[in-house]
Amino acid sequence: MNKPVIMDHPLIQHKMSILRDKSTGFKEFRELVSEIAMLMCYEATRDLPLAEVDIETPLAIAKTKVIAGRKIVFVPILRAGLGMVDGMLKLVPAARVGHVGMYRDPETFVPHEYYCKLPPNMDQREVIVLDPMLATGGSAIDAIDAIKKRGCKSIKFMCLVAAPEGLNALQEKHPDVQIYAAALDQCLNEHKYIVPGLGDAGDRIFGTK
Ligand code: PRP
Ligand code: URA
Repeated sequence: MNKPVIMDHPLIQHKMSILRDKSTGFKEFRELVSEIAMLMCYEATRDLPLAEVDIETPLAIAKTKVIAGRKIVFVPILRAGLGMVDGMLKLVPAARVGHVGMYRDPETFVPHEYYCKLPPNMDQREVIVLDPMLATGGSAIDAIDAIKKRGCKSIKFMCLVAAPEGLNALQEKHPDVQIYAAALDQCLNEHKYIVPGLGDAGDRIFGTK
């Protein structure tokens, strides 16, 4: 089982504080989600495979390295995961983007998959699943199930706020998936919202409340 990575970088912590503030409006919220995702992407791509190449500088041949292949796929969980895509693509512009649509029933808290569109040859790709919130873990677990069903063997999961309940559930169901979170919060409330959390991530990104 992979140990979850909880980000301790000062820039991430600072931006998370502004993100959590209930007086932060949706324009700034959206920008911050994207910026934090970009900073987290730096850490989550640390182990990408490299290939050695010869590059002709103005002076000589340099033996240097480039990322091997173009196999990375970012998979945002709709809707809120969409807010993280731009930041990820800033660092890895050649990545492909798949989508999984999950909707958590507000009464039962059970997730329902309503959309799944992924690139071909998923068995040869490295996937990073994106969702700002890991609450009960149900949405992430089902989204990763759907991605594995298409043959993918290398999956990471990146969120901004994780609850201990969701972290444990995801680790138990998918122990091979490396989890990255910008913060690990205290608990879930009776509506299965993360406390202290940041509220409803989708509504705050898209201004729907
Ligand atoms: C939110 C969030 C996660 C999910 C987390 O999405 O973006 O996908 O809830 O909860 P869980 O870990 O308990 O499954 P929501 O279903 O509210 O949909 P939205 O992104 O369209 O707002
Ligand atoms: N979904 C959210 O957007 N926020 C939470 O705290 C839990 C689920």
